[in-house]
Amino acid sequence: MCGIVAATATRNIGGDLIRMLRCLDYRGYDSAGISTFSGGNAIEVRKKQGPLAGLEEVLGESPIDGHAGIGHTRWATHGVPSDENAHPHLSEDCGVSIVHNGIIENYRELITEIEAAGIKRVSETDTEVLVHTISLFLAKNGDATAQQIVWYLSQKIRGAFAIVIQRANKPEEIIGMRYQCPMNFVSLSGIAAISSDISSLIEYSRDIEVLKDGQAVAITPNGHAVFDFNGTPSESVKVHADWPIDKVAKDGFDHFLRKEISQEPEALRALVKSARSSADELHAFIAAQDIKKVIFLACGSAAFAGTLGSFYARHKKLPIDVLSEIGSEFRYLPPYVDDKTLMVAVSQSGETADSIGAIEHAKSQGARVLSFVNVVGSTIDRLCDMSVRLAAGPEVAVPSSKAVINQFMATTLVVELLADNSEASFDAWEKGCLALADTIENIIAREDEIADFAAKIAGHQSSFALGRGLDFASALEMALKLKETAYLHCEPMFAGEFKHGSLSLVEYGMPIFCFLGDPAVRHKSITAIEEIKARGAHPFIFDAQDRDDPDVAALGHYFNAANLGPPYSSVAHLTVAHLLSYHAGLLRNTDVDRPRNLAKSVTVE
Ligand code: F6R
Repeated sequence: MCGIVAATATRNIGGDLIRMLRCLDYRGYDSAGISTFSGGNAIEVRKKQGPLAGLEEVLGESPIDGHAGIGHTRWATHGVPSDENAHPHLSEDCGVSIVHNGIIENYRELITEIEAAGIKRVSETDTEVLVHTISLFLAKNGDATAQQIVWYLSQKIRGAFAIVIQRANKPEEIIGMRYQCPMNFVSLSGIAAISSDISSLIEYSRDIEVLKDGQAVAITPNGHAVFDFNGTPSESVKVHADWPIDKVAKDGFDHFLRKEISQEPEALRALVKSARSSADELHAFIAAQDIKKVIFLACGSAAFAGTLGSFYARHKKLPIDVLSEIGSEFRYLPPYVDDKTLMVAVSQSGETADSIGAIEHAKSQGARVLSFVNVVGSTIDRLCDMSVRLAAGPEVAVPSSKAVINQFMATTLVVELLADNSEASFDAWEKGCLALADTIENIIAREDEIADFAAKIAGHQSSFALGRGLDFASALEMALKLKETAYLHCEPMFAGEFKHGSLSLVEYGMPIFCFLGDPAVRHKSITAIEEIKARGAHPFIFDAQDRDDPDVAALGHYFNAANLGPPYSSVAHLTVAHLLSYHAGLLRNTDVDRPRNLAKSVTVE
């Protein structure tokens, strides 16, 4: 969740650290910091609560630089966002500096040891405990090698982590160790660098080394050594990053979120190309297994794609169980999984810890795993038996938009192929996606209408999103996006369930978003809209008819997108949800690109 960088070179690397951190800003913006070694016996640190710009200001007033350094953007887990809790954390003698992503589960045990040694903590973080633990070890073992330090620390700690260590007594060497949190590096002549994201290393080289769980690396300007936690030399995974470097730029848009919504049509067309290039492999992958159960597995918006997929499987009358499961629950309350199970994992980042845990569990039970991942080379991309690129292009805004559209369409492709694993079936899906891309373009062109709706809901504190059948997935996405982007509470519900209790919350004027994209249940959903209208609520109705339906339009605020049929019409409504949430966020003065308390990539459980 936090972003980690490091560099060691035959020249100053202060600027490199900041440039790399800029690529990782989305991973956490509670605070940012760097430490560098510029000679003498001490490492110097600058850190600041808030986004990276705050750190840059501090560095402007009080610069530090050197040939080696480490850096961090934080998403707070232990301890509030503050200057004190910001990383890097320094040992008392300023001889060791550490940045960390993840959670150290047994940090309280380590505090006891540290306090017994007379060390006073200055922060509330688990990371600071690590730096004192190493410093106590080095006090007795001043010449310890990188391998010995990693071995010692790995014996002491439990949890999920990516840790980077800099020490003053061996200033040119930086150590990274990884367990269940991503870590990558490049090693060139004169410079080596570490980062939690491949994207921030591409400026050095497209040949990236990805550490596996339980591996560590020691980098110097002249080379590197990869080894396991016992110190045994080991091989990292080599990835060639052949995807385009996305300039982290808004390209004339006010916000990344708005830019990324505008990219939804092109992202979807790119998914079609990507799936087409994997078509033979996909047909073969599905044909190779006697599939008795399918489990869509994901978190957040990506999990709503699973909801759509599992409901669409019922539309297609698939004679097998197709479940949609949430990553965080799966490991602890798993459905029955065996070698006749196909898990379909869906993830933008490919680093979502809850999804990774679930995939590992499913694999351990014999399931085969197919993934749809946006970030190439990410953990999920590498972990699965087959991976198809979502190809949405890099997403910077924390609320996911273009990747979600592709995630939704990815699950429907799997269902189409399970129903009929033929070229014709693939072609029909492709045609549907291309028509959907055109419809999304039309929806974006009608942004003003959606902005008007946003003005009507912006003053409210609570709302509902209703859908039946396939539309329930649209309702889920609308509710999450409004909460996340506009801080407006929205509860998703099956339209038919509303009358079983929640209707009591309806007050005069309350906004209720009603989706009519699934033709199988349209008339039923209209009945629900009539009911809530009778109770004084204000329905916002998202229809999918060839022509506006005046009877339905008379029930509330009405937006009719094209009639594409199932499942495409339900997915077209996601763009409406994205634009509505974006405009509501602007009116409610939220940070739509970086909502409070959230990070783009959730690499902790
Ligand atoms: C919502 C959002 C999150 C992600 C979820 C899964 O806008 O961005 O709910 O969908 O955290 O992330 P990935 O797809 O990276 O596994």
